[in-house]
Amino acid sequence: MLDKISSLRITIDADLAGINSRDGVESFRLTHLVRKGTLQALVDALRDVPKEEKPLVGKALNDLRKHTDAEFERLSEQYASVADVKSIDVTLPPRGPLPGSIHPITQTLERIVDIFRSMGFSVAEGPDVEDDAHNFGKLNFAVDHPARDMQDTFFVDSKERNDLLLRTHTSSVQVRLMQSTKPPIRSIMPGRVYRNEAVSARALAEFHQVEGLYIDKGVSMADLKGTILAFAQAFYAADAELRFRTSYFPFTEPSAEVDMRCFLCKGAGCRVCKHTGWLEILGCGMVHPKVLENCGIDPEVYSGFAFGFGVERVLMMLTGIDDIRKLYDNDLRVLRQF
Ligand code: DAH
Repeated sequence: MLDKISSLRITIDADLAGINSRDGVESFRLTHLVRKGTLQALVDALRDVPKEEKPLVGKALNDLRKHTDAEFERLSEQYASVADVKSIDVTLPPRGPLPGSIHPITQTLERIVDIFRSMGFSVAEGPDVEDDAHNFGKLNFAVDHPARDMQDTFFVDSKERNDLLLRTHTSSVQVRLMQSTKPPIRSIMPGRVYRNEAVSARALAEFHQVEGLYIDKGVSMADLKGTILAFAQAFYAADAELRFRTSYFPFTEPSAEVDMRCFLCKGAGCRVCKHTGWLEILGCGMVHPKVLENCGIDPEVYSGFAFGFGVERVLMMLTGIDDIRKLYDNDLRVLRQF
């Protein structure tokens, strides 16, 4: 009987060593571990073993059973996660890669940056959490200017300071640039801005702007017009036509808002231009002498222009998307079109 047990052990070990699939594990079980299997046959034969040999034979059989169970467990686990080769249909067409793409707002920002880079502008950035001085004070906003109002500005709670806020425009970066750089300065400043507005089809509390600043000796309104026209012709349409409307910003004098003849209807009137024939594309002006002075630049020596516009608005005009929220839903039906 002991011989039978050791010869079964040799067979079992050889079978275990040969297992290389889930099917192999299963056929091992069917040979050795079921009621009609080899191990149970020896257990049944234990009945005929003389009484005095039983403890020894029983122990040997028990050891073999334990060894076999443990090895079987180990191999079952090892092959449990391996898919059955038979279940893979190699004739199926592949699913193909599902690559992501660059978000339309980022794409638009990159195009804008490329165009200004080609005109010699560098790119500058500033912090999203600003202080009152950089966002308002040095830009010549009066202390009681309505833009500082709770309705427009997100203020930041801080134990140390009470003048922190989320920047409401990228004009704050102008101030930082003028304070840290000696003219000539020729930069654009793309970035996220924040306003305490009710979210609607036309407004979000968080959006993007691009700010532009050019400061040197003898910079004039003609330089401003030429730069904006060159940008519009590169970005919107080679035959873009502009009109400058007088406007007001605290940080520029004179100030203007720029309209472009609608690139879709060429001025005839359509849905995108709301039947006016014109699209407002940006705000701009000559940097106010007080702003230059506030930032440590002598307005007797230097002059400059600045401009700023919203990126989401640009994208909406270009695409005809009429609800700004659609740019942030990340609906693949929208994103796949870019
Ligand atoms: N900061 C303005 C805004 O958020 C946009 C702007 C207008 C920026 C005129 C400028 C500018 O630099 O000259 O509405």
